[in-house]
Amino acid sequence: TVLILDFGSQYTQLIARRVRELSVKSEIVPPNLPAREIAARQPIGIILSGGPASVYDQDAVEPDPAIFRLGVPVLGICYGQQVMARLFGGEVASAGRREYGAAELELLASCPLFEGLPPRQRVWMSHGDEVTRLPQGFRLVGRTESAPHAAMAWEERKLFGIQFHPEVHHTPLGQKILDNFLALCGAKRDWTPASLRQEAVEAIRQRLGQGQVIVALSGGVDSTVTALLCREAVGDRTIPIFVDTGLLRLGEGDKVMERFAAYGLAVHRVNAAPRFFAALAGVEDPEEKRRRIGHEFIAVFEEEARKFPQARFLAQGTLYPDVIESTSVKGPSATIKTHHNVGGLPAKLGFELVEPLRFLFKDEVRRLGLELGLPEEFVYRQPFPGPGLAVRILGEVTPERVALLQKADAIFMEEIRQAGLYREIAQALAVLLPVRSVGVMGDSRTYENVVALRAVTTEDFMTADWYRFDGDFLDRVARRIVNEVRGINRVVYDVTSKPPGTIEWE
Ligand code: XMP
Repeated sequence: TVLILDFGSQYTQLIARRVRELSVKSEIVPPNLPAREIAARQPIGIILSGGPASVYDQDAVEPDPAIFRLGVPVLGICYGQQVMARLFGGEVASAGRREYGAAELELLASCPLFEGLPPRQRVWMSHGDEVTRLPQGFRLVGRTESAPHAAMAWEERKLFGIQFHPEVHHTPLGQKILDNFLALCGAKRDWTPASLRQEAVEAIRQRLGQGQVIVALSGGVDSTVTALLCREAVGDRTIPIFVDTGLLRLGEGDKVMERFAAYGLAVHRVNAAPRFFAALAGVEDPEEKRRRIGHEFIAVFEEEARKFPQARFLAQGTLYPDVIESTSVKGPSATIKTHHNVGGLPAKLGFELVEPLRFLFKDEVRRLGLELGLPEEFVYRQPFPGPGLAVRILGEVTPERVALLQKADAIFMEEIRQAGLYREIAQALAVLLPVRSVGVMGDSRTYENVVALRAVTTEDFMTADWYRFDGDFLDRVARRIVNEVRGINRVVYDVTSKPPGTIEWE
C-alpha cells in the first residue's frame, strides 16, 4: 500500500486513483497520523498531498516528522513539498500571487523520479506559497519560470518534493512521474481486478467463518458485486434480499431476479410496493418523501431479515469515497437533499457489517464486476437514486403516476441507447410534473400530464451540464412519448446546469 496523507487538497482522491491505475493499492489517511500508526500499516511509500493552507498558518497541519525516518520513499506534492522543505530546515514564502495554470518544467539534473522524461515538459501549478530555499541534503532537480525550486530530491533517503500536480491530466506526463515514484517504492503492481477478487473473497471467508450473510440488493452495481463476492466466498450461505419498492424503472424488478438466477443465486424478493404507496399517500414534500421511503425501507428489510435468524452478518456495498467522506475532517456542509442509500441500513439492526468494497472506487467496482462476469451494459449503467422514481414524480406518488412515468422513461432510455449515446451521457431521466396542459390530438382537445426530460454530462455529479441533443432526436422521443403513453400530451427538455439546478428535480 501507498499511504496518502491528506492535507485537504481537492486532488487527494485523484492521487489515490492514479496510484491504483498503476496497479498499486493506495489509501488516504489523516495528515497527522502518528508515524508508528503509519509504520503499522507497512506502506511501501508515502505521498503528502497538496492543501489549501499555508505552512506558516497558525493551524497549519504538519506530518509526524518521524515518517521521514521510516525508510520508505516519500513524495511531497505542492503543500506536501513545502511542509517537507520546512520540516528539514528550508524556507517557504508566499509567491506574491497565486500561480494557477500551466507552466513549463525544466529539469536541471538527472533524478530517478524523472527517469525517461524529456528535459522540458508541461506541468500544472496551483499554489500561493513556494519553496524559496532548499533544505540541506536536498538537490534542486527542476524549476519553472516562476517557481525556481519546483522539484527537489534527496535521493539517498528517497525523499522527493514537487511544486506542481502530477495527478491532474493537465500535467500530461504526470502519470509517468508517479509511475517512477512507485518503482522507487519497489511496488509489486498486484492491485488488479483478479487479485482484488481473490483478496475480497478470502477476506469474506475469514470474516464469516461458518456464518450466514444477508445482502441487501438494490439492483445496482455495488450491491450486485457485493452479493456475487459473498456467493463466491460462502456459496449458499449468502442470502440476498431484494426489497422491491415499486419505484424502480419499468421491468427492473424482474431483471434483478433474472440476473441473479443466471448465477444460481436464489433471491428473496419482497413485493413491498403496496406498503411504499401507502406510506407515500398524500405526501408532496420532497424531503418528507425521502424520509418516509428510507423509514419504510428499513422496516420492510428488518421484517424480512428476521426470517433468517441464523444470519449474523449483513453485507453492504459501501464504497471508498463514502468511507472517506464520513471520516473526513472537513466541516459539515448544508443539506441540499437527504440522500437515501438502499443498503445503507442503520446499526440498530444488530448485524455485523461486511463491506467488501470499502476500499474501492466506483471504476474499480466496475472492473471487478466485469471480472465476475457481469455484462458491460450492466456494469456501466447510469446511477439511479435510492428513492427511485418517487423523487421524479413531483407532487403525490401514486401507482398510476409511477406507471405513467415508467413508460415515458423507458422510451427515453431506449432511444438514448439506440442512438449510441448511453455512455456519453452521465445520467438521463424523465420527470412527471404536477401540472396538466392543454393539447390537441386528432380533432379533440386533451388536458393531460407533462413530462420533463433531463440528460446531463458530468465527471463527479457535483457539477453537471445539460446534454445537447440534436433536435431530431428530441423530436423522435417527444413524438413517441405522446403517441405511446396515454395520459401524457406534452414533453419539455430541461436546459438547466448544476448548479443552480440539481440533477434530480427533488
Ligand atoms: P442531485 O439531484 O443532488 O443528484 O444533483 C446527484 C446524484 O445523486 C443521485 N441522487 C441520489 N442517489 N439516493 C441515491 O442513492 C438519493 O437519495 C439520491 N438523490 C439524488 C442523483 O440521481 C445523481 O446521480
